[in-house]
Amino acid sequence: MPEAEYSHGHHPSVVGAHAARTVANSAAYLVPQLVPGMRILDVGCGPGSITIDLARMVGSGGLVVGIDASAEVIETARAAAAAAGVANVEFRVGDAYDPTPGERWDVVHAHQVLQHLGEPVAALRAWRAVSELVAAREVVYSATTIEPLTPPLARWRELMGQLQCANGGDGDAGAKLKRWAREAGCASIETGVETWCFESPEGRGFWGGQWVQRALHSAFAEGTERHGLADARQRQEISDAWAAWSRDEDGWMAMLHGWVLARG
Ligand SMILES: C[S@@+](CC[C@H](N)C(=O)[O-])C[C@H]1O[C@@H](n2cnc3c(N)ncnc32)[C@H](O)[C@@H]1O
Repeated sequence: MPEAEYSHGHHPSVVGAHAARTVANSAAYLVPQLVPGMRILDVGCGPGSITIDLARMVGSGGLVVGIDASAEVIETARAAAAAAGVANVEFRVGDAYDPTPGERWDVVHAHQVLQHLGEPVAALRAWRAVSELVAAREVVYSATTIEPLTPPLARWRELMGQLQCANGGDGDAGAKLKRWAREAGCASIETGVETWCFESPEGRGFWGGQWVQRALHSAFAEGTERHGLADARQRQEISDAWAAWSRDEDGWMAMLHGWVLARG
């Protein structure tokens, strides 16, 4: 498969933010489909907080397996499962295009993964071949609404799309899930949207706080430099703008996420 590069990397500021994700805040659309005893594969599971939550929801008679290309983040996920005392979850290093050869799943789930793949349709086809239901949710970065939209934050939003594209992915993947599922041959396709909104002091602190660091130290910094998209001064302006936004009691932002449930 054409190699796309994972745009966010695994700096602690990135992994720490991903570890705050739960089924309630990142996969609520999937909840009505969950039945105790299910076998679920979570592709691109990252630090595994959603995976562990799914394991709780299917109960001790079910099994949830998280796979990720990064051995480092798989270790983080294993430690999180041990700390949470959740036993019906496993984490393995694996490839999104050829997950768990020879095994079948009731659900293959992926959150914010297809946007990072060079061949999302091929991945969906592979997931469809080994499951009854494929469930995926992806952001639409260009639809992110930020108030106040200062020039550095407008540039940040642009850069998220440009960096994903330069790395071989697609920052507006959430808007394309319907088309990609159809191209992957799925017979029954349901789509919709969910949102994240950060506006409380805690919410602004979480979102803005991570980006104060990420703009300067994560793969965002390395990638925007290497692709000639932003220099150190511009990244500092973006970091400072997120700090100011976090402190602004009128600060508000919403992110649109498309989801798909695909069968057959
Ligand atoms: C944005 S993170 C999402 C993590 C998790 N699903 C969540 O929402 O918290 C995307 C994850 O996909 C993984 N990934 C990227 N390309 C992959 C591939 N080809 N195979 C397996 N994992 C991949 C990355 O290592 C990263 O941990």
